[in-house]
Amino acid sequence: MKEVGKIWMNGKLVPFKNAKVHVLTHALHYSTAVFEGIRCYNTPNGSAIFRLPEHVDRFFNSAKLYGMKIRYTKKQIIDAIIKTVKASGLKECYIRPIAYYGYGTMGLTPTLNKVDVSIACLEMIGEPKAGKFSGAKCKISKWIRIDSKSQPMQSKSAANYSNAALARVEALKSGYDEAIMLNSSGKVAEGSAENIFIIKNGIIKTPPLNADILNGITRDSIIRLIKSNGIKLIEKNLTVKELLKADEVFMTGTAAEVKSVAKINKTTIGNGKIGNITKTLQKSFMDVTMGKEQKFAFWLRYI
Ligand SMILES: Cc1ncc(COP(=O)(O)O)c(C=O)c1O
Repeated sequence: MKEVGKIWMNGKLVPFKNAKVHVLTHALHYSTAVFEGIRCYNTPNGSAIFRLPEHVDRFFNSAKLYGMKIRYTKKQIIDAIIKTVKASGLKECYIRPIAYYGYGTMGLTPTLNKVDVSIACLEMIGEPKAGKFSGAKCKISKWIRIDSKSQPMQSKSAANYSNAALARVEALKSGYDEAIMLNSSGKVAEGSAENIFIIKNGIIKTPPLNADILNGITRDSIIRLIKSNGIKLIEKNLTVKELLKADEVFMTGTAAEVKSVAKINKTTIGNGKIGNITKTLQKSFMDVTMGKEQKFAFWLRYI
């Protein structure tokens, strides 16, 4: 990982090299952390953070779902994110705020420890290219998405990601680009780090928020773009059969943006090329992130 700028830790900007935690940090042992993934785009009008208030709202909601108390206000976190991006010197970056139970007492009960917060800015280099210029190959995972009755899947919590990482690694080892996970009812949930949409006969469908999925901010953005383009969208539980028989499939996420899916297991989706509706949405989303779409200009926070 490239060392970039400074990292905000509990109110102070510290040099990248010195941003360290103790090996007995509670979150390291028990996954007691919630985090965000936010993007800052290099637009023709300067650097702009995409949907910053919505990401900070989700960050606080993720913590609340775990009874974790962040000792900063939303405004303080927004200001800290902007300060960290500016200190990074990067025109575009991936921003990673994290709140975690820190070093204190060892043992399962997290609430005995303080909640620490840090914010890092990283260069956008790790995004998988598959799905942008040609369709991604996806594997339906043998790993089932954790049921929301087991833990709050609406929280972007580190605890959810061992499940997602198992699916991602399984897919990569089998020669695919990404995993698609089913929920405990056998319905389509989401990718390991993306939400999923299908298109059949011009109608777009996506699993509802109660399908054990993350309330993706890109998902929400795409839903609004679809509606503003006058295309029909239905939120409903999707079967594997509907997924495999779709004309187009795409996934959405902060890192992935709008990623086309060409193949699922051995089945080619549509003609195996990026479909027309997916292409239109990829372009609309890019226009929005570049500040070219007046209607959604308020989603960008120029810094
Ligand atoms: C499990 C999961 N689903 C969906 C998403 C997409 O969410 P967003 O669009 O807010 O990045 C992510 C991204 O982090 C994710 O990890």
